[in-house]
Parts: sequence; C-alpha cells; structure tokens
Amino acid sequence: MVKYIGSKRVLAPLIERVASLLPIRSVCDLFAGTTRVGQAFRRAGVVVHSNDTATYSEALGQAYIAAGEDVDRVRLRELLRHLSGVEPKHGYFTETFCIQSRYFQPHNGMRIDAMRDEIDRLSLTQVERGLLLTSLMEAADRVDSTCGLQMAYVKEWAPRSFADLELREPRPVPGPSGAVTRMDANELAPGLTGFDCAYIDPPYNQHSYFSNYHIWETLMRWDAPETYGVACKRIDCRTTKSPYNSKRLAWQSFSHLIEVLPTPWIIVSFNNEGYHDLDLVAAVLSEKGYMRSVAIDFKRYVGAQIGIYNPNGEKVGRVSHLRNKEVLFVVGPDEAAVEEATALLERPDSVAVEQEALF
Ligand SMILES: C[S@@+](CC[C@H](N)C(=O)[O-])C[C@H]1O[C@@H](n2cnc3c(N)ncnc32)[C@H](O)[C@@H]1O
Repeated sequence: MVKYIGSKRVLAPLIERVASLLPIRSVCDLFAGTTRVGQAFRRAGVVVHSNDTATYSEALGQAYIAAGEDVDRVRLRELLRHLSGVEPKHGYFTETFCIQSRYFQPHNGMRIDAMRDEIDRLSLTQVERGLLLTSLMEAADRVDSTCGLQMAYVKEWAPRSFADLELREPRPVPGPSGAVTRMDANELAPGLTGFDCAYIDPPYNQHSYFSNYHIWETLMRWDAPETYGVACKRIDCRTTKSPYNSKRLAWQSFSHLIEVLPTPWIIVSFNNEGYHDLDLVAAVLSEKGYMRSVAIDFKRYVGAQIGIYNPNGEKVGRVSHLRNKEVLFVVGPDEAAVEEATALLERPDSVAVEQEALF
C-alpha cells in the first residue's frame, strides 16, 4: 500500500470490527484514498462502492475493491513478468521526476517509463489494468526519495531509492467484490439510495491531495502535463481544488453532504487537527439518527515526528505536539447496535492492540 497522509492504516482494523457488529451489507466509501477502509469493510463481508476524485484511488479501487475471484491470477502473474522484462527507456517520467527533480533514481525512472507505456499497449480488462497500475505505483512508492509527500524530495537520495523497482502482485482481498467511481462525493451522495451505509473521511485541512500526490496522478493518467516549480507539479495543480481544502467552503460542503445522504447508517472519521469544530460535526450527525463518537489517540505521521527541515536539510522548526486524535462517529437508526459497536472501540485492549502496529 502506498504512503498516504491521512490513510486510516491503524483505524481500518477497528472499523472492520465495527462494521461486523452493524446490520449493514453495503457501504459507499466516499473519500476512498488508498481504499484501506473499503478493504476493511470488504473483509467484514460488506459490498463496497469505492469513490474518490483521484485517478490513482480509482486504480487502487479496481485492484482491491472491484477485483473478485474471477480474476485470472495466473495470467496476472504472467502479465507482471512480461512488464518486468520490458526494455528501460528515457521518457517523460525519467526526464521530469529523475532529472528535472529527484523523486526517483534514473535507473528506476526508465523502467517506469517503459512499463507504463507497455500497460497502454496491452489488451486488458478494466480490473487487470487497475491491478497492473497498482502494482507499478506500489513498486515506485517503495523506491521513492520523499518523506511520503510529493511536495519535495529529500536532499540526498533516500537509501531505498537505490534498490531496483520490483513489481509485486496486489494481494486478493477476501469478501464480496464491489464497484469503483471517480466522482465528487457531494455529487455522488444523493444517488446512494439503497446503500446501507456511507463512510466519510474527507480532507481536513488546506493540504491538497491532488498536489501532494501529483506524481501518482500523472503516472495513472500518463498525459505528460506541463509542470512548474522545483517540485515539478502538474500545471493543473494550480486549478484543481477540493472545497474540503478550503477553510471557507469545507464546513458548507461537509454539512451539505450529510444533509443529502440517504443512507440509514453513517460512519465519519475526523482528525482533531482539522478545520472543523467536532461538537458541530456531532450536532449535524445527530440529526440523522442515534450518534456516538469515540476519540482514538495516535502518534502523528513520521514527518511530524522528525521535525521541520528546509530544502538544505537544516532543522528550521519544532513540531508543537506529537499526538493527535482521530474521532470516529457512528450514526444509525438502531441505538443498541450503535452502542455495542462503539463500546468495542472504548475497550482499552482493543485500541492498544491496534496502536502497537503504528509504533
Ligand atoms: C483523508 S483522505 C482519505 C483517506 C482514506 N480513508 C484512506 O484510508 O486512505 C481524503 C481523500 O478525499 C479525496 N477527495 C478530496 N476532495 C474530494 C471530493 N470532493 N470528492 C471525493 N473525494 C475527494 C482525496 O483525493 C483523498 O484521497
């Protein structure tokens, strides 16, 4: 799975347990990102619709949510072997992300160029294409030279960037297969009639996912965009904005989304460092059904643990605090089920076990 800020790596197993205690058979993950949470629902036996505006999330959705038992895994491994053997070439990716900027070493950039061109030449089903794109993106992520965001690359090559890019098969996720869309969550929400549940994990501050993960967007679209700045961002990073990243628009977007959602069950996660007053979030959600919230204490992401550095690698700041809270809100028509599911999260042993995975 790729490095992704705000990914619910630690929360996902808890959500899986919550899902298994609620009477839900279908869910829409409206801001799917890495699809980790969708995968957790799937493992709990729930049919998942995975949605996000990011093209790379769509590929991950094909690989981990839409891919079912009918995928020919022998053919997939054969395709991966074929891709691994294509002749490296110096193309747009190498020039932009290995020479003009230094996110990857050229020996890996040239293999990425060749493999990505080859994916477009192969005759593939939509799911196979998603599986190959996911395998390539995850392989590239393992040899990048960043701190997990594509706003900047580290001054000296990261040790992992010297390794050779290696394609691996995206592992099958147990549970029913689902569907994938790439839509604005607020446009999709009113049409979710018939779904039992919506999971909502929107961006919570000014940092744009489109800009922070512009290389994955370009790798998926393969549209060789004009770029700007030392970070070589896509030119459309200047114009592609989510209202959830705007302090002025975020609350209006979130509260309207909740208002128009037709699903009887809603699960929301929010970070206590974001724009929103969590009491207001609770108030809006309480209008939709019986609501309980649980705060879970986590260490902040690794960038925050190591301090703030300028492009020369000098420490220029201190991080104010190293813990943050993730708040999970569960809303639904059945008070007893909400209580039972959230009581599980409040048991110290259940949270402690999951936290170990992060530290
Ligand atoms: C906090 S992240 C979700 C992380 C995800 N739950 C995970 O575990 O990986 C928020 C996601 O919202 C997406 N996004 C931003 N604005 C959106 C919108 N208007 N509609 C749908 N998705 C949006 C971003 O691309 C990003 O992947």
